[in-house]
Amino acid sequence: MAQDVFRWGILGPGHIAARTVPAIVRTPGLRLEAVASRDLARAQAFAAAHGAAKAYGSYRELAEDPDVDAVYVATPNAFHCEQAVLCLSHGKAVLVEKPFALNAAEGRRMAEAARTHGAFLMEAMWTRFVPAVRHLRSLLASGALGAPRLAVADFSFSRQLGPETRLLSPALGGGALLDLGVYCLSFASLAFGPVPDAVSSYARLGPTGVDVQDAVLLRYAGGGQAQLSCGFEAYGAADATLLCTDARVALPSVAKPEALAIVRPSGSETLPFPFAVNGYEPQFLEVRDRVREGALESPEMPLSETLATLELMDALRRDWGVRYPQE
Ligand SMILES: NC(=O)c1ccc[n+]([C@@H]2O[C@H](COP(=O)([O-])OP(=O)(O)OC[C@H]3O[C@@H](n4cnc5c(N)ncnc54)[C@H](OP(=O)(O)O)[C@@H]3O)[C@@H](O)[C@H]2O)c1
Repeated sequence: MAQDVFRWGILGPGHIAARTVPAIVRTPGLRLEAVASRDLARAQAFAAAHGAAKAYGSYRELAEDPDVDAVYVATPNAFHCEQAVLCLSHGKAVLVEKPFALNAAEGRRMAEAARTHGAFLMEAMWTRFVPAVRHLRSLLASGALGAPRLAVADFSFSRQLGPETRLLSPALGGGALLDLGVYCLSFASLAFGPVPDAVSSYARLGPTGVDVQDAVLLRYAGGGQAQLSCGFEAYGAADATLLCTDARVALPSVAKPEALAIVRPSGSETLPFPFAVNGYEPQFLEVRDRVREGALESPEMPLSETLATLELMDALRRDWGVRYPQE
């Protein structure tokens, strides 16, 4: 590996890849080395637009490229497992878009492949690494907020979605929980850990059979609670608040977490935490830094937490009767 620059490959140059890629190309020390699509012309167009040296018309060629240090898997949920395992089996470090996989069984297969091949693997839960959330984590660890008691998070938007869209497609792993709810679960997990001891929930299923509006209540050992919601049909706040014994702390936007509001009995303050590029850069740097240390996962987003969250999402979907055709 060239020590001065960490070389990324993008697998699946679609919507999210186009949104995140400035974080790679505009962050010193990172480089976009290669792009792979099922369609060579699409890979070439993306590579040309973002200055990648190479474009491939198959994912296998990217996995085999010795000049790529890590692959970012940015395809729909249903393909993460197969594509991550392909890259891991070639010894690549892999960053996989959220949700990590369709279900916990796939997630375990990916973690097993990473262990077998001695390769780094992480879920691209980018909000975990942004400065506002890192600051929140340090406040919690220091006890400056008192004890966390209740996490309240919503990620809902209202948009007309055609039945063919990825978000509503059972075959692609659609549904509000896997795409949006996973952020709310991650927020609650930051405060209380990923494994609740009691779960209660409701979901409304849309015409394609996936969940389009979800409400989830979680209880944790130690007395913590979470109240989470997500969906595609209501104009939500898309915010997250943690109520602690000594203060209340809020991310005004889950989708663009660039500030932290802290309210105490003595007064309130809003701390700005602007992104260096677009908020995705810390997760790409995290992969680089951990890989260079020789680590196989990130302590800030460990595979054990990712797998526990997948198990929780499996249990929620089981209760709702949401089953993907692959299951
Ligand atoms: N981090 C975030 O903020 C964020 C935001 C939105 C989405 N996401 C996540 O990012 C992932 C991709 O979402 P997206 O909206 O970017 O998806 P997308 O644009 O629909 O698809 C991304 C790429 O996946 C491949 N693909 C698409 N449909 C396929 C199909 N039917 N069969 C096989 N391959 C297919 C295509 O790659 P080829 O060019 O190779 O054909 C496409 O360019 C999802 O897991 C989603 O949850 C993350």
